[in-house]
Amino acid sequence: MKFDTPAGTNPIDRMKVVGQPTTRIDGPLKVGGHAPYAYEHQELPGKPAYGYVVGSAVAKGTIRSMDTSRAERAPGVVAVVTHRNAGKIAKGNFNTAMLLGGPKIQHYHQAIAVVVAETFEQARSAAALIDVDYARDRGAFDLAAAKVDAPDATGSDAPTAVGDFAGAFAAAPVQIDQTYTTPDQSHAMMEPHATIAAWEGDKLTVWSANQMVAWGAGDLARTLQIPPENVRLISPYVGGGFGGKLFLRSDVIMASLGAKAAKRPVKVALPRPFMGNNTTHRPATIQRIRLGATQDGTLTAIGHESWSGDLEGGGPESATQQTKLLYAGANRMTALRLAVLDLPEGNAMRAPGEAPGLMALEMAVDELAEKLGMDPVKLRVINDTQVDPEKPERPFSQRNLVRCLEEGAERFGWARRKAPGQVQEGRWLIGMGVAAAFRNNLNMKSGARVRLSPSGQVTVETDMTDIGTGTYTIMAQTAAEMMGVPLAKVTVKLGDSSFPVSAGSGGQWGANSSTAGLYAACVKLREAIVAKLGFGPGEATFENGQVHVGNRVADIASAAKGGEIVVEDSIEFGDLGKKFQQSTFGAHFVEVAVDRYTGEARVRRMLAVCAAGRILNPTAARSQVIGAMTMGVGGALMEELAVDKRFGFFVNHDLAGYEVPVHADIPHQEVVFLDEADDKVSPMKAKGVGELGLCGVGAAVANAIYNATGVRVRDYPITLDKHL
Ligand code: MOS
Repeated sequence: MKFDTPAGTNPIDRMKVVGQPTTRIDGPLKVGGHAPYAYEHQELPGKPAYGYVVGSAVAKGTIRSMDTSRAERAPGVVAVVTHRNAGKIAKGNFNTAMLLGGPKIQHYHQAIAVVVAETFEQARSAAALIDVDYARDRGAFDLAAAKVDAPDATGSDAPTAVGDFAGAFAAAPVQIDQTYTTPDQSHAMMEPHATIAAWEGDKLTVWSANQMVAWGAGDLARTLQIPPENVRLISPYVGGGFGGKLFLRSDVIMASLGAKAAKRPVKVALPRPFMGNNTTHRPATIQRIRLGATQDGTLTAIGHESWSGDLEGGGPESATQQTKLLYAGANRMTALRLAVLDLPEGNAMRAPGEAPGLMALEMAVDELAEKLGMDPVKLRVINDTQVDPEKPERPFSQRNLVRCLEEGAERFGWARRKAPGQVQEGRWLIGMGVAAAFRNNLNMKSGARVRLSPSGQVTVETDMTDIGTGTYTIMAQTAAEMMGVPLAKVTVKLGDSSFPVSAGSGGQWGANSSTAGLYAACVKLREAIVAKLGFGPGEATFENGQVHVGNRVADIASAAKGGEIVVEDSIEFGDLGKKFQQSTFGAHFVEVAVDRYTGEARVRRMLAVCAAGRILNPTAARSQVIGAMTMGVGGALMEELAVDKRFGFFVNHDLAGYEVPVHADIPHQEVVFLDEADDKVSPMKAKGVGELGLCGVGAAVANAIYNATGVRVRDYPITLDKHL
């Protein structure tokens, strides 16, 4: 099905099942321990062995020599695979560095060997017996130092300019020119990367925690230089992705190579201390923002430059993305500058681009409001735009930022906010902060297969993943709504590359795209049922397990009497997304208390108001948003990979050293969804919402801290030492 005109009325609009706060259908499996995560898969063609990955001890250089003989002789060891005996392997399309390094080393903890043994303990112990002699090269590890020579990024990340920014900024009666910094951050999802690999002849099956099954299967074939049809990737349950599982990591490659060498299935889980440097991370940014305004608060000049680093061939952190679209302003410029750094590979993490970009932009807007003596909600409202400010001929498909801000201010009691440093409760200074939330809505082609059995059971099959987001549930709701059956009559099967290719889970495109693909398949199944029953033509209604056309009625199951009906379709998005800018909007309100003696900041209240199209399941969507708000608090107050600038690695690479919020850090969180349906984004009229929940939170916390203390900290995370 091609989606190239705005959606008309369709069965989803009934909202009998879709839009209901259904608890997750996979919940009992998960809490009962019956949902098999990648490492737990049981039915294997042979007794599994265990692989332990060895990472490089230098950030850049060459392996001069490697002695694996002691490891090979150690108890229980079945095989040791390094670049010397791995055979020919290539770099995947989605990776920047090789997933098996050597002799060239591209980053610290780059995998250089896997030791396969009868037990995990034997593999780990033997791994310590490998002797490696490195020739270490000098590397660039300091963004602030490398920033000077960083060229402009290219392609979709190239600089943008409208009007005369420099002239308008210079002439502006009120100006802000500040630099903000965000650190490297780690995904820190609950489930570390893990894979079981099994070969049967030249066919490879991997059970691997992965967000994007088709990308992963394709890159696995490419990396191992085998035909794509020989690879099957299965990822039915994922314990958090956060962007870290969009692409293959070393667990998949090393398990596959280990299994080939051992001639039996091999299980590889990356240990937690490996996550920080072996896998990807969100790159640090240095962001300069210049805002020029007239005395009445009208923005006349908006400039945003951001510097970040990555390995050679990598990409920038697109921190200027929201600045192109969030506020009106006749004169504007954005630029992303990319330095080559020899730190581990940077890549997508939890709303890449907007999450760190808004941490800077929305603090700058708060600073401008302060300078103007204007309420920061009002400043944002008067600079709203209903068209793409860089391409005024393009309207937004739907944009309710102003309503989010105004409704949020009302609900949060924003009117009670005082000037900075004015509210005190004992030793605590209290403050409120606001920030706009913005995240683009992306659509991706997505397919699904639907089966109707003679008993009337509807089975959905697609390679779409559920990374803890609620995909199983919204897919079941979509099929139930379309086919007019109760949820219990729907079975959802996900995360298998033998199923039709879906959008996958990333960039908050998963929910809308994958349900829209399922919608298309269900339209086909409805047509097949009507044809089978000889009911056409005429409008068909599917309800209570029955189909009605005119005065004719039958159980849908009766259409499958002669055998299961199987159909498949996908949704493809035309250029509607080019004609209309598709984005999601929100407003974050935060109250903090800051200890006036120690600088300790505690978040007291949080409210998010979100405008993200139709909400497919308010319970699942709320869970997404409160999780994202929690990540926002992490970004504002805690999360930071500390760079060792001499040796080029992240020092605090485990959950003891890399701090994330715990329950005690997070207060009551309130989430409000505006009642929207966006007919330009898909037949579902839904948009992404998960990442929106994070975008802006960091700045709202930072602005609240400023309101509490009168001290502006522009360097995230805002740890207590920075108040002094
Ligand atoms: Mo997301 S960071 O695109 O998985």
